[in-house]
Amino acid sequence: MTLTCSFTSKAPAKADAFILCTGADLKPDLSVLSKGDSALVKAAMKNAKNFKGENGQVLSVPLSSAAKAGRALVLGLGDLKKLDALKAEAAGGKALPFLKSMGIESASIFGAKLPAKSKISESDVAAHMALGLRLRSYHFDAYKGKDAKAKAAKKPKLKKAVFVGGKFAAASKLYKRLAASADGIELARDLINMPPNDLYPDSYAKLIAKELKPLGVQVEVLDEKKMKTLGMGAALAVGQGSARPSRVVVMRWNGASKTKKGGPIAFVGKGVTFDTGGISIKPAGGMDEMKMDMGGSAAVVGLMKSLATRKAKANVVGIVGLVENMPSSNAYRPGDIITSMAGKTIEVLNTDAEGRLVLADALTYVQKKYKPKMIVDLATLTGAIMVALGFEYCGVFSNDDTLWKNMSAAAEKSGEKIWRMPLDEAFRTEMESSVADLKNLGSLGRWGGACSAAGFLEHFIDKDVKWSHWDIAGTAWWKSDKPTTPKGGTGFGVRSLDQLVEEAYE
Ligand code: BES
Ligand code: MN
Ligand code: ZN
Repeated sequence: MTLTCSFTSKAPAKADAFILCTGADLKPDLSVLSKGDSALVKAAMKNAKNFKGENGQVLSVPLSSAAKAGRALVLGLGDLKKLDALKAEAAGGKALPFLKSMGIESASIFGAKLPAKSKISESDVAAHMALGLRLRSYHFDAYKGKDAKAKAAKKPKLKKAVFVGGKFAAASKLYKRLAASADGIELARDLINMPPNDLYPDSYAKLIAKELKPLGVQVEVLDEKKMKTLGMGAALAVGQGSARPSRVVVMRWNGASKTKKGGPIAFVGKGVTFDTGGISIKPAGGMDEMKMDMGGSAAVVGLMKSLATRKAKANVVGIVGLVENMPSSNAYRPGDIITSMAGKTIEVLNTDAEGRLVLADALTYVQKKYKPKMIVDLATLTGAIMVALGFEYCGVFSNDDTLWKNMSAAAEKSGEKIWRMPLDEAFRTEMESSVADLKNLGSLGRWGGACSAAGFLEHFIDKDVKWSHWDIAGTAWWKSDKPTTPKGGTGFGVRSLDQLVEEAYE
């Protein structure tokens, strides 16, 4: 069950805890408490020398038996002059594990009084704190056994957060908007966390239809026969070693008014449901993580869910190439020369550089069929992007400065870190083969591997199409918890791109 967050100006009902937000000034609003209980909280703050009201810091104070809540939790928001939306989210997210450990199922939350020159309104703080709580409360336990599930069901977890205060009228509205992003993020996380024996191209395609059709998204599944007719020789080559047939799924959300001119915008995702590397097989250590090699596609599916949930006023095409990269007697080989849908031939030098082959055909298809004015693709494309940027930043390539500016602004607002990487003639020519049009491995091998991969993709972008490529290999999956993101699949990309659509295309 997901957490419900609501906002009210009424007096607080009974709850397991009252959460009293405070700045570094340690002056929470205690008006909800009796005199005696206020004194208890003040004394506790004074005695706890480590409690400085830093962002996410929590101080627990048991209240008298007459109080409407068993305890007060003083929650730090940090310096209130510097408080902004993302910091409010972080405070909510950091508080969540604490609430969990204390067995708190219901909480009434009281905002901090903000200074006159505050960067943010009190109601916006409440809405973003609610989002932080919700995003951090995500968990994936569908695959636990019966006993573990029964045990988990009995464990208390935060079910209800009520933000109390007179200034929260706008908070509900903002939270509804933010929750649409959260819906998409949670779907993307679920897809990434699913094991590859259950999430493979065909099952994945069916899941997409099941999730998105009820929201009014048109979902079309191209099977291998259709892919062959279309000439998708690159994507098909990657999937040919697998017993699980490949799929391409096209999702369409037509939310723009009839008078809106120009083509749709498009989002393209790499959906390698498992990447063994194929004949150029990967080492055994950590190979299980390659179930997340469909993270780009998950972001596209999640984005479509967010857009449809909030009825975005834009025409959007989402397309994902779903394949499993396996070694077998039928697998494609290093040395093979394959023909892409664009007609360009590709010499395969490494079967582990498969994502670009899948994307090439998806990019060609979406341009031929829908003539989009803008395309963003997302892919867990290269280990090299992690060499360049670690796990903190997503590498973003773009052939258009305005598009980059819009994406950069949207990402900044969303708290997703992106960093611009270079496209260059040199990276494009590096991918030219002596025996075919292109090769799937650059001449320089590992050096600049994320850039040459982008250079390869650029060969499949039509003239004058605004395009950006997001290499999310380092950001789609996190090994440890962050304030608003539990470890595992992150859903990276959904929020920024939802924001981008809202700000630049509606
Ligand atoms: N899916 C991988 C990239 C990847 C690595 C994603 C680690 C997430 C975590 C991709 O298909 C791949 O194998 N890339 C190769 C390309 C190389 C053979 C040119 C790589 O990065 O080593
Ligand atoms: Mn690979
Ligand atoms: Zn891959």
